[in-house]
Amino acid sequence: MRIGRYRILNRVAVGGMAEIFRAETSSGKIIAIKKILPQHTANDKFIKMFFDEAKIMISLRHPNIVQLYDFGRVGDDYFLALEWIEGKALSSIIYQQKRQRIPFPVGVACYTMLEILCGLEYAHSRKDSYNRNLDIVHRDISPPNVLISVDGDVKIADFGIAKAASNVSFTNPGVLKGKYSYMSPEQASGYELDQRSDIYSCGTLFYELLGSVRLFLGDTDVDTLNNVRRKRVPRLIKQFPYIPRQLEKIIMRALQRSLSKRYQDAASMANDLERVYDLYYSSDDREALKGFFQFLYPRAQIYRDKEKKKSVIEYWGTQVLHMSVQRQSRKHISSREVAIMSIVLLVACLGLYFFYDDVVTVLRHILSKLPAFAGG
Ligand SMILES: Nc1ncnc2c1ncn2[C@@H]1O[C@H](COP(=O)(O)OP(=O)(O)OP(=O)(O)O)[C@@H](O)[C@H]1O
Ligand SMILES: [Mg+2]
Repeated sequence: MRIGRYRILNRVAVGGMAEIFRAETSSGKIIAIKKILPQHTANDKFIKMFFDEAKIMISLRHPNIVQLYDFGRVGDDYFLALEWIEGKALSSIIYQQKRQRIPFPVGVACYTMLEILCGLEYAHSRKDSYNRNLDIVHRDISPPNVLISVDGDVKIADFGIAKAASNVSFTNPGVLKGKYSYMSPEQASGYELDQRSDIYSCGTLFYELLGSVRLFLGDTDVDTLNNVRRKRVPRLIKQFPYIPRQLEKIIMRALQRSLSKRYQDAASMANDLERVYDLYYSSDDREALKGFFQFLYPRAQIYRDKEKKKSVIEYWGTQVLHMSVQRQSRKHISSREVAIMSIVLLVACLGLYFFYDDVVTVLRHILSKLPAFAGG
């Protein structure tokens, strides 16, 4: 299967807006293709904004941002060609970490946050060719949109998508569920946003990494939105006394509902965080994140060789899958097979019963012909 000049290798995931594929360029480079789900492509407003945003996003080049290489339309398909990140979404890492009951290491959380802030600072301060601020706001800084590579890189995904998606009314109410919990209060109230909205989302995300809790998530979307607007944020160090007080202060400042009291930009939050980080944590937390990733996903290491089309794991993965399918099919004997086997067994028993005497006579005759038995 192909989308334009890209060869699709396999489908990786289906998100709320799009399907994600692992694909290959004509020169053999592995990329990600994000194909907008057909139910959204009929929406002209969405498509217009999708292209408008993509035109801006294609100029973003930063190690902490998933790079957009290309975008377009092929037939009815609208797609983005993106940098391929060999790794997992932060949401999966958090899920694994909670499942295995391991706290997210504080230093690793700080490093992850610093990298996100670095990417945000770059995007927030982008200017056009007339030196006017482009006012880029991500609008959906949340664990599914932060990708962690097996090598410990932190990359923000989906710049511009959330803005285009604001024109889409989701028919499936579950699609956006949970996403509201990372919104800023001004976003939850439908006000105009600026970059400080992303700072608030960073505060929520950071709180979750350290506190292992979805801060504003309620039972329903309405509860969640109300929590974002009003819920008092519980003190982190009451429950986790090992968290430095300065770190909690940074999170609380990012989570200020008043825009003027909140960090005004990603750089000032990053500066404060860097100071605490230098004081308490190792300077090589990229390695620590890589180690943490590999600890949670020991097998993922083998996926690292991006260029090999048939990597060892893929080969063995296929073999194991093939064997398990075979084994599975053997486990399931159909009732028809059981009936046939029962009939065969019954016929054999009846045969033995009726011809027993004949069989014994024939056997005796054969044995008597053998020299050992005949000679005695
Ligand atoms: N550039 C990429 N490289 C590798 N994998 C990716 C890339 N982008 C996304 N993925 C994978 O696809 C999954 C789904 O991503 P996607 O952005 O479509 O959904 P989402 O973030 O969960 O929801 P939303 O539609 O709201 O963005 C991610 O969790 C990640 O595993
Ligand atoms: Mg996403």
